[in-house]
Amino acid sequence: YTVKWEAKQAEKDGYAHFMLKEIHEQPRAIKDTLSGRIAAGDSGVTLKEINIPEEQLREMNKIFITACGTAYHAGLVGKHIIESLARIPVEVDIASEFRYRNPLLDRNSLVIVVSQSGETADTLAALREAKRKGARVLAVTNVVDSSVAREADDVLYTWAGPEIAVASTKAYTTQLVCMYLIGLYLAQQRGALGPGETAEIVAELRKLPGKVSAVLENGSDIENFVRQYSNCGSVFYIGRGLDHAVAMEGSLKLKEISYIHAEAYAAGELKHGTLALIEKDVPVIALATQADLFEKMLSNIKEVKARDAVVVAVAMRGLEEVAKEADQVMYIPRTHQVLAPVLAVIPLQLLAYHMAVARNCDVDQPRNLAKSVTVE
Ligand code: G6P
Repeated sequence: YTVKWEAKQAEKDGYAHFMLKEIHEQPRAIKDTLSGRIAAGDSGVTLKEINIPEEQLREMNKIFITACGTAYHAGLVGKHIIESLARIPVEVDIASEFRYRNPLLDRNSLVIVVSQSGETADTLAALREAKRKGARVLAVTNVVDSSVAREADDVLYTWAGPEIAVASTKAYTTQLVCMYLIGLYLAQQRGALGPGETAEIVAELRKLPGKVSAVLENGSDIENFVRQYSNCGSVFYIGRGLDHAVAMEGSLKLKEISYIHAEAYAAGELKHGTLALIEKDVPVIALATQADLFEKMLSNIKEVKARDAVVVAVAMRGLEEVAKEADQVMYIPRTHQVLAPVLAVIPLQLLAYHMAVARNCDVDQPRNLAKSVTVE
């Protein structure tokens, strides 16, 4: 037993859990996923692995992203990214829905399948359905030569390295990086983005690993909150636009490993029902990283504060006004607002992790869940 324990500890590199190790591997994983794909002088991206014929690229009129779990949440961010950079309409579907809903696909559709393992049964079935209908399939996966990688037309690998913890962290952030790369690539091919904006986003992408490290260094703010709220019954996550997609991933992380009931809402939708659940001392995690939506987000924070909720905000530097309304603020460094999800999810991963530890949960192997779901 002693030997086994030591071997396990060694694999964890001194971290208490694989999840914490993988959270801290994100700067490296993001760097590797960008490596070789950013053109010199930040002039654009080069994705040698994507070989969509030029004519098909020109005719492409619709993109579908399909996936399960955390990969689906990466797809939700991906929709915003691709639509805003490449100006092509994107639909996102849970793979178990997509495969049975007879989606309207043809050879002018691109289907992007996202899967860390590349073996999820529903995702693989969705891929096969897309191919059967004549769509081009691009896989974003972390496992070389996985089923999804083998069956797709094109593969863009996330270079996250092996992910052991059931709750996905570095696979998610590297999937987001692939979404930026795909968005920029399609924008380039179709002339949808000016050279100035392309260069700005590419330069900011290059700085992401360093900024993720900076967020990881400020992790201690979270422990304070965890000490006070580890016994709460429910946590609500709110955000608008990209922040809503990140809120969904934050809420999933908390549910998966700490077994606390958590829900994510588009902040503007609160008043259509959920606000009824907000009462004294209910924790609300409010994401405020999008300058365009900041005023709207502030009024949503005031709405929940008026019901005596406890608000922890995750905000981008420069949006400090949030501190007047929230009880606590965790700041992420400034970046282009489209890239904020990669930074904003880090405090949410740490929050879920520390909650699970405080509640004595099995962080790396939560009850009832599996790392890869290869049966329907
Ligand atoms: C399981 C895992 C999740 C993962 C999902 C999709 O539910 O517990 O962490 O997001 O499967 O897995 P995939 O390998 O397809 O990304």
